Amino acid sequence: MGNVLLTRRIPSSVLTALQGRHTVDLYSGEGAIPRDELLQRVAGKDALICVLTDRIDAAVMDAGSSLKVVANIAVGYDNIDVAEATRRSLIVTNTPDVLTEAVAELTWALILGIARRVGEGDRLIRRGGWKAWGLDFMLGTELHGKRLGIIGGGRIGRAVAAKAPAFGMSVAFSGRSASGAKNSATTVSLDELLVTSDVVSIHAPATPETRHLINKRTLARMKRSALLVNTARGSLVDEEALAWALDERLIAGAALDVFEREPDVPPSLINHENVLLVPHLGSATRETRTAMADLAVRNVQSVLDGLGPLTPVT
Ligand code: GLV
Repeated sequence: MGNVLLTRRIPSSVLTALQGRHTVDLYSGEGAIPRDELLQRVAGKDALICVLTDRIDAAVMDAGSSLKVVANIAVGYDNIDVAEATRRSLIVTNTPDVLTEAVAELTWALILGIARRVGEGDRLIRRGGWKAWGLDFMLGTELHGKRLGIIGGGRIGRAVAAKAPAFGMSVAFSGRSASGAKNSATTVSLDELLVTSDVVSIHAPATPETRHLINKRTLARMKRSALLVNTARGSLVDEEALAWALDERLIAGAALDVFEREPDVPPSLINHENVLLVPHLGSATRETRTAMADLAVRNVQSVLDGLGPLTPVT
């Protein structure tokens, strides 16, 4: 039996399983746990189950000096100072695999939505702006026969690629893990991917190396007809550079699920009709969020049972 701090409500079936074995301190307020409350409530805990909006740094680890495991309910873990945790032999886990298909599905929703101007059409109808059907009205881009460039050849990038043949698209990968990408896709340099792709979709982790990977210089390499999609992390795209590229018509549009300073979305992007915006929904299906919470709980149980983590990040 351990003491577990849980910073968000999780599906009741998963919570009940956790409460059956441990003493659970659940933060049940709306939204993110306030920083001072996190620092206070983590004291004396054996495990912390948190989400991507919780910054887990040295101060939290100091306050939670008896922690054995930090289980993030997310595949990304840029909210956690993993180097600091490693120095303290504190185990950090994430939730890979269980969200792969959900994120891939949302990525395709964004690809299709921006290519066929779905958000724009919806807004037009809602403001009473649709006057008539027209042969040349709201023309979009056909995906069939085009190239999808995937930055990052990890699980999610590969799952996105696997659906490309259904839309008649060829696939190219670039990035550190891209050489592991199977199937008929080619692996190319980032520059070649940017120059040759009709849709560029980002599926790389947020690290100091990938920060602003998409910037003025890389945007200028893309086709003027190209679409940029980001369901990874906001920090990979320099948002001001993206707004500039859209103003200059260097690319045709963008679809974004993630932002640099969530929940703030810069007006320079909101003001562009050819940007499709969704509020960080990549893994937001009932099935996947339950599976993510369940995996985080199983990680905690396994560590507290002395069996080691199921999905450690390092
Ligand atoms: C969501 O963004 C995740 O990293 O799981």
